[in-house]
Parts: sequence; C-alpha cells; structure tokens
Amino acid sequence: RAYTQKHRENVLRTRTQDLRQARNLRAAATMALLGVIVLGGVLLLVLVRSILDPVRELAKETEGTQDSPKGKNEVKALSMSVKRLMEDMGRTQTELDKSRETLFQSEKLALVGKLAAGMAHSIRNPLTSVKMRLFSLERSLVLSPSQQDDFTVISDEIRHIDIFLQNFLEFSRPPKLKMKPINPSEVVDTTLTLLRHRLRSYGVRVTVQRKSPLPVIQADPEQLKEALANIMINACEAMEGGGDITVTEDSVFSKTLGPVVRIRIQDTGPGIPISVQDKILEPFFTTKEEGTGLGLSIVARIVEEHGGRLELESREGEGSVFAIILPAKQRGQDLGTH
Ligand SMILES: Nc1ncnc2c1ncn2[C@@H]1O[C@H](COP(=O)(O)OP(=O)(O)OP(=O)(O)O)[C@@H](O)[C@H]1O
Ligand SMILES: [Mg+2]
Repeated sequence: RAYTQKHRENVLRTRTQDLRQARNLRAAATMALLGVIVLGGVLLLVLVRSILDPVRELAKETEGTQDSPKGKNEVKALSMSVKRLMEDMGRTQTELDKSRETLFQSEKLALVGKLAAGMAHSIRNPLTSVKMRLFSLERSLVLSPSQQDDFTVISDEIRHIDIFLQNFLEFSRPPKLKMKPINPSEVVDTTLTLLRHRLRSYGVRVTVQRKSPLPVIQADPEQLKEALANIMINACEAMEGGGDITVTEDSVFSKTLGPVVRIRIQDTGPGIPISVQDKILEPFFTTKEEGTGLGLSIVARIVEEHGGRLELESREGEGSVFAIILPAKQRGQDLGTH
C-alpha cells in the first residue's frame, strides 16, 4: 500500500510538473506569436514606408502631375509609368537624332553657301564679259552656217553655266521673303504664261483644275512662282517625249496647319522610286547628267519659309504629284476670300 501511495504521489507530482511545463510552453508560444505579429507589423510599416511609398511617388512623378489611384496595384502602375518613360526616352532620342541631322545639314549648307558665294564672285564677272563680247561678235561677224552652229553651242553652254551659278547663288543667299496678300491662283497663271514656250517645246499639255480662285494668302509671289516653275520643269524633264501636267487647286483644312491652300502638280512621268523619295529634297541629289540637284531643295525651303509644307505622292510607274501646301491664315489674320 505504501508503495501504491508513493507511486500515486509520484504520478501526481509528475503531472503537476507537466502541467506547469505545458503552461510555460503555451505562454512562450503566445509571446512568440505576439512577437511575430509585432515584428510583422513593423516590417509591413517599413515595407510601406521605404518601398511602396517611394514606388507610389515614383509612379506619380513619372506620370507627371496626375495622381496614381491609391490602393491599385502600385507595381503595375509603376511598370506602366516606366514603359511610358521609356517610350518618351525613345521619342526624345529620335528628336535628338533628327535635330543633330538638321544641324549637320545646316552646317553643310552654311559651308556650301560660302563656297557658292566665292565661286559666283570669281566666275560670274569674267563670264559676264565673255557673254557681252560674244554678243557683240555675233552682231559684227559674218558667219558661215557651221560657224553659226558653233556659235550657238558656245552661247548655249555659257547660258547653262550662268543658270548653274544662279542656282548656287540663290541657294547660298536665300532672299528675304517679301510677303504680301496674293491670290495663289494668279501666281499659277503667271507661272504658266512664263513657261508657255518651254512647256510647248517639251510637248507638255497643262490643265488647271480650279472650281473658283483660291483665297488670298500672305506670300511672296516671286518665290512662289519660282517654286511652281521648278516643280513644273522637273515634271517636263521627267516626261520624255511629252505628257500631261495637271494643276489642281483647293482649300482644305490641315490638322497641323489649320486652313491651307493646296496646289497639286501632277505629271504623267515615270514616277519616283520609293528608295529615292526621301533623298530628292536633299541639296545636290540629282539623277540628271546636267542637274544641280538644287531645284527641289529650293522649293522645299521656299514652302517652309512660308510656314507651309511640300508633299510628294508618287509611285514608280504612276507619275508624280508634288503638293505645295500654304497656310491660308497667318498671324491670326483673317484674310477672307478674293
Ligand atoms: N516630277 C518628277 N518625276 C520624276 N522624278 C523627279 C520629278 N521631280 C524630281 N525628280 C527627281 O528628283 C531629283 C531632284 O530634283 P531637283 O529638282 O532637286 O534637281 P534636278 O532637277 O536634278 O536638278 P536641277 O533642278 O538643278 O535641274 C531629280 O534629279 C529627279 O530624279
Ligand atoms: Mg529640278
């Protein structure tokens, strides 16, 4: 009995000890759980403060002034903003490349300008005396038909050099525009009258499609005439054996320029291959043996100085269309119609 009594006491003691240990363990577990919760909370706070808040700020900044909607997926918003930022960067890079190219072109042009001015000085003066002497010789000499033939060739070649120099000169010192209210339709008519003989000699017929004359615009009529003539002469030169030029005039609304007048010059020539279309406006690009390659770059500059645009539509084998687009309203002025 005594043994049984002792054994029970032992069992009781052990159970009490176990119970105490279990309580201690539970208390420790509760403490640990609390600790984990507190630590988790602190971590969450740190995460929000040091990661998500900057992420939100960054998203807000990259989006400009717009507030990004809170509570939405910040990372997604940020990735979108970063994507937009990269697109912006791409665009900026393209613009930078373009302005670098423009700068390069202007440097090239400035150099050409100086060269041309110097060249014109050195060549044009003696050339003028040669021309005058030839003219007086032609009047005083009695020439045989073959000599007369030589004489004509010499005069033609000299005229060619003179035109060449004139182009260079014009290119190097672009004249200041003398803007005045003009009717572009009248300028088209004057140009056609001036070119009448030339067009006939190329076997080219011209049709003008005009419902009513274009509205009056601010422009330099001399420069506009020159631009039209350059395009028409190119068209004549492109149409070997003759062809048709159709001039179409209309007033339209351009998204970028507002109300504009458009003069389209269409030919029935061979067209311009896509591969050279972006080169034809570059100075000195020519496919002609005797061309300077300055004609269209002068046209483009004239149109741009008027605040307009030169457009080309052409497919190889289908003729070419050059469109001169000029703002119909300038400096907020309402010019009305003519
Ligand atoms: N209407 C057209 N049809 C086909 N090709 C054209 C036409 N207009 C221009 N081109 C092409 O564009 C090139 C450049 O023209 P641009 O007027 O600048 O110089 P060019 O005519 O060659 O020389 P220049 O004007 O000094 O006589 C031409 O050599 C030609 O290849
Ligand atoms: Mg030309």
